[in-house]
Amino acid sequence: MSRNILITGGAGFIGSNAVRHFVNKYPHYKIVNLDALTYAGNLANLKDIEGRDNYEFVKMDICDFEAVSTLIRDKKIDGIIHLAAESHVDRSIADPFTFARTNIMGTLSLLQAAKNYWQPMGWISESGAGCKFYHISTDEVYGTLSPEEPEVLFTEDTPYSPHSPYSASKASSDHFVRAFHDTYGMPTVITNCSNNYGPNQFPEKLIPLFINNIVERKPLPVYGKGENIRDWLYVADHVEAMDLVFHKGESGRTYNIGGMNERTNIELVKALIQTTDRLLGRQEGEDLGLIHFVTDRPGHDARYAIDSSRLREELGWKPAVSFNEGLEKTVRWYLDNKEWLEQVTSGEYAEYYEKMYSNR
Ligand code: NAD
Ligand code: DAU
Repeated sequence: MSRNILITGGAGFIGSNAVRHFVNKYPHYKIVNLDALTYAGNLANLKDIEGRDNYEFVKMDICDFEAVSTLIRDKKIDGIIHLAAESHVDRSIADPFTFARTNIMGTLSLLQAAKNYWQPMGWISESGAGCKFYHISTDEVYGTLSPEEPEVLFTEDTPYSPHSPYSASKASSDHFVRAFHDTYGMPTVITNCSNNYGPNQFPEKLIPLFINNIVERKPLPVYGKGENIRDWLYVADHVEAMDLVFHKGESGRTYNIGGMNERTNIELVKALIQTTDRLLGRQEGEDLGLIHFVTDRPGHDARYAIDSSRLREELGWKPAVSFNEGLEKTVRWYLDNKEWLEQVTSGEYAEYYEKMYSNR
């Protein structure tokens, strides 16, 4: 069946990996990539699919309700995969308003624009057939788990308890998505995913920032004691889950996505140093001295860990890329794509980077 799918935030890290997947795997779909190209959006991520018949890029702000409404109508959009967001926790601490604007108001703008088009078309039916609004969210909405209770994981029933302005804005957007399902019958689906890593991730996030610093032999600023735990998932495995959930996910339902791959930050950083040193032809571990413990992130969540058994049992998903394999692929990608790294670390980002890390 042919579909006209709008992917928002498709020039970002996960979005560009998702756009490439859908364009390549579904030549009979029309994929419209809507992105405002903020500091985190980069069309160089999608050079290989530029000019494809089933792909189109539109530069647009999701908060521009009139423009989004016109686009959805003109392109006859019947499915939305919504990733556009401000995504970096440290930035949300410095500037919460931008996060509320994009993540809350932007999501509301998309929901309302989709409803205004889908309702009169008769696509919002009891069965949920005809259209779908898929919201990509985060495990951070659940708050934090205790490292002392390793058997406790986030499930889809864990109550929301966000701690950062970023996670508060994502929690709010999740609530709006559910409200549109419960109030207007919109066929919605939400996934809450753990930490992604892989190619094209902006080097403000732990893994790409640290790879870059190891290469340049700059200090690696580990927050607090490095004991915080994250559950790491290779981005391609997230995209496979997205494909399943978009096509087969039940309307009104939430699915957790996680890698079953818990690591303390310091364990992760040590593994990253070993891998990067090896691939650079340096002596493995010779850069361990770059580790530099710095002031902790305010409100820093101690542990995230995901129970993704609903997604596994109901939709048959499981991650295919092991942590060691994923880390190696990722480091190789950054070493092979120095131009990309130089491009995104120049200009506005360089200033931010200087301000952020100069006094640590
Ligand atoms: P990213 O920061 O790399 O990309 C975000 C994209 O959204 C960029 O291309 C940016 O230009 C675009 N954008 C920002 N504001 C916009 C606006 N107002 N209008 C249109 N486009 C706008 O983010 P990411 O890491 O790829 O995350 C994508 C989504 O996945 C986000 O919703 C995030 O909350 C969620 N998520 C991320 C992770 C992760 O580990 N990175 C994990 C779980 C969920
Ligand atoms: O859990 C999913 C979330 O993962 C996503 O929703 C977010 O969009 C994504 O940015 C990510 O959030 P984190 O805050 O967990 O990712 P980040 O890479 O910023 O940090 C990972 C861990 O490393 C976290 O415990 C903070 C720590 N850290 C991070 C940076 C940038 C450091 O110790 N030093 C650093 O310089």
